[in-house]
Amino acid sequence: MVYLGANACIIGRNVSKTKEMAISISTARPGSKVIGIGGLDVRKIEDLENAAARCVTELGGHDFCIAGAAGNFLSPISGLSSNAFRTVLEIDTIGSFNTLKATLPYLIESAKRNPNNGSNESTGGRIIFVSATFHFKGMPLQAHAGAAKAGVDALSATAAIEYGPRGVTSNVITPGPIQGTEGMARLGNREAEASGVAFKSVPLGRYGTVKEIADGTVYLFSDSGNFVNGGVLVIDGGQWRAPSGGMAGVQYPNYLLDDSFMRIDEKSKL
Ligand code: COA
Repeated sequence: MVYLGANACIIGRNVSKTKEMAISISTARPGSKVIGIGGLDVRKIEDLENAAARCVTELGGHDFCIAGAAGNFLSPISGLSSNAFRTVLEIDTIGSFNTLKATLPYLIESAKRNPNNGSNESTGGRIIFVSATFHFKGMPLQAHAGAAKAGVDALSATAAIEYGPRGVTSNVITPGPIQGTEGMARLGNREAEASGVAFKSVPLGRYGTVKEIADGTVYLFSDSGNFVNGGVLVIDGGQWRAPSGGMAGVQYPNYLLDDSFMRIDEKSKL
């Protein structure tokens, strides 16, 4: 978005990491203004309200918002304390709610200034929630994050229909495994990645790139996404739909790639 002309404000808990990331993002376009506000916690509504107000003072408004707060680790339910479960819900679900709450008045103002009327190429008042696919069918070791992200999806759906009438759009992006991210550093399996086994669970046979998530974001924030509201954009190479087991002892997708199950008479035609 900065590359394409936006200015931006990012927030984080860690002061130096947030500042460094803001500087890095600002290199996307000479002359851009990117503010990094560290030392904040999405679990505290006043932190979000102060950051949103500073963003408006320094940048002039909020046309777009990305609610991407996430905290995660791998644990079976038996290893999760009540506090561990609550912590992830507080970061992901309440953090996303707080982000929406703090920016919504400005998003409504932006939507008024930049109406979504079908012919305006420069609409405003958009929010994207970053969710996950864990809760679509359930995932081992992710009870906390799955429950938290299901709440985020529900929040976005409600925001879409409560504030769509005021011109605000609300959508969800659910990234799959994306290479080089903190999420994969925490949740990925180095050995399975080195051997290539990890990629077998993704129909496209690879992890995604940060750019592929950025492209989804640009789609939803640009005029291409003007009529997309209340949606869930899954960017995971088809991973959540992939079968987990094999067929006749052969692992997915090998039995497809080697045509194991193709009819003999069909095979002879190839
Ligand atoms: N397995 C089980 N429980 C765990 C855990 C793990 N791997 N890691 C933390 N917990 C528990 C803690 O033991 C604590 O519970 P307790 O008080 O009953 O012992 C609870 O979670 C809160 O942990 P704490 O470290 O106090 O919380 P925090 O707010 O400082 O950190 C986390 C939040 C736990 C989510 C931490 O992993 C984090 O800061 N993550 C942010 C970045 C991130 O996860 N990014 C990836 C996104 S995919």
